[in-house]
Amino acid sequence: MEHIDKSNIPSHIAVIMDGNGRWAKKKGAVRLFGHRNAVNAVRDVTEGCAEIGVEYLTLYAFSTENWSRPKDEVTGLMELLVSTIRKELKTLTKNNVKLHTIGDTDSLPKKCKRELLEAIERTRENSGLNLILAISYSGRWEITQAMKKISSEVEKGNLKTEDIDENTIKNNLMTADFPDPELMIRTSGEMRISNYLLWQSAYTELYFTETLWPDFNKEELAKAILSYQRRERRFGKISEQLKSDA
Ligand code: IPE
Ligand code: IPE
Ligand code: MG
Repeated sequence: MEHIDKSNIPSHIAVIMDGNGRWAKKKGAVRLFGHRNAVNAVRDVTEGCAEIGVEYLTLYAFSTENWSRPKDEVTGLMELLVSTIRKELKTLTKNNVKLHTIGDTDSLPKKCKRELLEAIERTRENSGLNLILAISYSGRWEITQAMKKISSEVEKGNLKTEDIDENTIKNNLMTADFPDPELMIRTSGEMRISNYLLWQSAYTELYFTETLWPDFNKEELAKAILSYQRRERRFGKISEQLKSDA
């Protein structure tokens, strides 16, 4: 992590934690073994982000589409979520981490939802890293929810159609309080977005690595940030304009 330029740390990093199943298979173990080991990577990366001053870390833990997996795996993942939150709550508090979730928490098993809400409440006053768990989340689901909220405001007469702009949409997403991620990391060699942060990633830098998520750690995080720091973010402009702006 020492090679990172401390003056150019992304304020928001989003991660698609992929490859747990393949990691377990390589070891001749069941898929859930991979998910259990994923927790170590989550801990290490959270700690790494806190150390270098990343303000927001959003982790894709369970997608809307993941509900279609075999029932045993879904149940196992939900139980793992409950036990992990319970186990890690002390450490989160100690490290001043503030927990948030995005996604359809109403679709989660009651126990899971209760545990999450409790952890969010208990870390509410923390002022360090914002750890955002995307659970039962998908970008399309989130945008659909936002559309429903906006049209109901129009219906009630609180909002005029011609006043709808990009900010109206942003403010009705579950990420309304967070900046867009500057960097998105996906592990396991897959090069797709899989319905993650579709609106928010319009200008996000993408980083893909072959490393399977349970093997990901602070050093791998540092590689991703170094790759980010070598890029020129032009936002539609040309290189010369950026130099004269600076
Ligand atoms: C990511 O690992 C975790 C979740 C999607 C919950 P996978 O379970 O997708 O692992 P692979 O892609 O099958 O290896
Ligand atoms: C994306 O991984 C979702 C999470 C990491 C939670 P998947 O393994 O579900 O993605 P696809 O289906 O291979 O695109
Ligand atoms: Mg996968």
